[in-house]
Amino acid sequence: MADLSRRRFLKAGGTTAAAAGATLLGGGLAHADTEQSHPGATTLPYPRSGIAKASALKENEPKAFSYPDEDSFCQVIKLGRPVPGGVGPDGDIVAFSTQCTHMGCPLSYDKAARTFKCGCHFSIFDPEMHGQMVDGQATENLPRILLEHDEAEDTLYAVAVEGLIYGRQCNVI
Ligand code: FES
Repeated sequence: MADLSRRRFLKAGGTTAAAAGATLLGGGLAHADTEQSHPGATTLPYPRSGIAKASALKENEPKAFSYPDEDSFCQVIKLGRPVPGGVGPDGDIVAFSTQCTHMGCPLSYDKAARTFKCGCHFSIFDPEMHGQMVDGQATENLPRILLEHDEAEDTLYAVAVEGLIYGRQCNVI
């Protein structure tokens, strides 16, 4: 009888411990998932930086700026047709980091192909598809600079980065 009670006790205890472990593990995985889904996440706040007047942008002609600091090179471009994530009156303005996600080389914009290209190892990124990597050595899409358009001011503000800027452990340093 005493032996049976002890067995029941151990079984109940084991079940409780397993449940507690699963809870802890589940919590840990949920946290890891959250971090992985926001690779540009940072504990520091992103600045809100005015980068251009929307009406001053010319179609298919990118304009350079820096964000979230002067060492991070980016370009904003008006694509001339609505695109995913596009802002402005026509939903066609997007911005990206222009450091290649492969090894950090500077990207240039190819007006004819309407893509960002890397001269180092020939990766190509599509600004009309969230900066998707479409060819070459890179394996990551371009970090997207999240924009807001203040209609009253006609000003485009950079407010955050989606994706991790090349060479950084967090985007705001
Ligand atoms: S650095 Fe751009 S493809 Fe290698």
